[in-house]
Amino acid sequence: MSDQNVNKGRRRMLILTTSAIGAVGVGFAATPFILSMMPSARARAAGAPVEVDFSKLDVGVLLTIEWQGKPIWFVKRTDAMMKKLGTIADLLVDPDSDVETQQPAYTKNLPRSQEKYPYISVMIGICTHLGCVPLDKFPVGLASGMGDDWPGGYFCPCHGSKFDMAGRVFKNVPAPTNLVIPPYRFLSETRVIVGENPGEAKA
Ligand code: FES
Repeated sequence: MSDQNVNKGRRRMLILTTSAIGAVGVGFAATPFILSMMPSARARAAGAPVEVDFSKLDVGVLLTIEWQGKPIWFVKRTDAMMKKLGTIADLLVDPDSDVETQQPAYTKNLPRSQEKYPYISVMIGICTHLGCVPLDKFPVGLASGMGDDWPGGYFCPCHGSKFDMAGRVFKNVPAPTNLVIPPYRFLSETRVIVGENPGEAKA
């Protein structure tokens, strides 16, 4: 599917919380994992890993879940989106994701994703300027409303920061760094636990 074929009318942003999953009715599931009896139940609720099943998520559509009170984005990127990542390095502040605080080491690569499922993007949807939630602007060019040279990505409406489809920040915007990628590990191609690194399976 090309960027142009991403049907904006089909796009939907789903805000899922661990308490509201059952009401969403689109087949997603997220379950808080209790890691230990300590610290307090309140602290566990705030920071517990969350399992996400995105098997019914369409390609090129943004899904948002909540983890630790933050919006976590999932996108199954198209082939066109993936190809674009390698063509815009000159436009970006940190095209190689060299700022170590912005992603786990296992996602320091061109698509900023895990090697086994490179087209799946998982990011914290919070602008690295002052913390607004950027908007998805996935279509390329004029169809996005971002100008004919827009390669597809995210736009922060607060002060105009722009990020590409891997969350890499563009030059000459207020945001100083790429979007943050949380720790996450795959249970399968369509099931992820956010809040745990690969190999951190809990009993
Ligand atoms: S908070 Fe996003 S540009 Fe300022």
